[in-house]
Amino acid sequence: MSVNKDIKRVTTHVLQEMKMRGEKITMLTAYDFSMARILDESGVDVLLVGDSASNVMAGHETTLPITLDQMIYHGASVVRAVKRALVVVDLPFGSYQGNSRAALDSTIRIMKEAGAHAVKLEGGAEVQESIKRILSAGVPVMGHLGLTPQSIYKFGTYTVRAKEEAEAAKLLEDAELLQELGCFAIVLEKIPAKLAAKVAEKLWIPVIGIGAGGGVDGQVLVTHDMLGITKDFQPRFLRRYLDLFDSIRGAVNQYITDVRSRDFPSDKEQY
Ligand code: KIV
Repeated sequence: MSVNKDIKRVTTHVLQEMKMRGEKITMLTAYDFSMARILDESGVDVLLVGDSASNVMAGHETTLPITLDQMIYHGASVVRAVKRALVVVDLPFGSYQGNSRAALDSTIRIMKEAGAHAVKLEGGAEVQESIKRILSAGVPVMGHLGLTPQSIYKFGTYTVRAKEEAEAAKLLEDAELLQELGCFAIVLEKIPAKLAAKVAEKLWIPVIGIGAGGGVDGQVLVTHDMLGITKDFQPRFLRRYLDLFDSIRGAVNQYITDVRSRDFPSDKEQY
């Protein structure tokens, strides 16, 4: 990793300090070099190479099919672009749940081959052995609770999680366990804002929300959703900052018109 001395890199320690100062943390997904470069230069604190690449990049219906090799490919592309942000790579489904040795092997590949700075995995008590083993190798771990998309076939739906008391209590317990184990931060996805705020207040590690309200320590969105590249997905928590789908379609339509009409290339656009 080459270090540019003019840029203060975001580390897990920096995120911890941000929480202590009450400064909100920004996180967005990235899967490729060009987008990661724009996001990093824009000043986003954390880039998540999410397994949502399975949906957004590969067109799968769920996050389950993406492989460790594919996550490493996306991770390495993002890491090559980044000078400031902390790069967190998701451990894909099947690469960490069953066996802590396999979890460590998957993590080591992500750290060595992608050059990631940390990994993220889904779940609480049920994956604690994997978390301990990864942490024992000195790799920072980000937890993920609430709507955990790798368990979609258990949930059966993408609706808000932990609305019932029992599930909310388990989530709070799991969040405390993840902190105790040594996770440096937790993502809470699609849970009631009140519950998320309670978790953020109880924990001293940063809690980053997606569809979890404003009472947490930071926000994460899928970049393709917030830029309006994806079109058919409009959950309540999603704010679209651009409508890139239509902008790109407009530009491409213009290109087609220009080529067909022989307007492009002009005299100035040739040798
Ligand atoms: O894979 C992903 O993009 C994620 C975010 C939704 C937090 O896990």
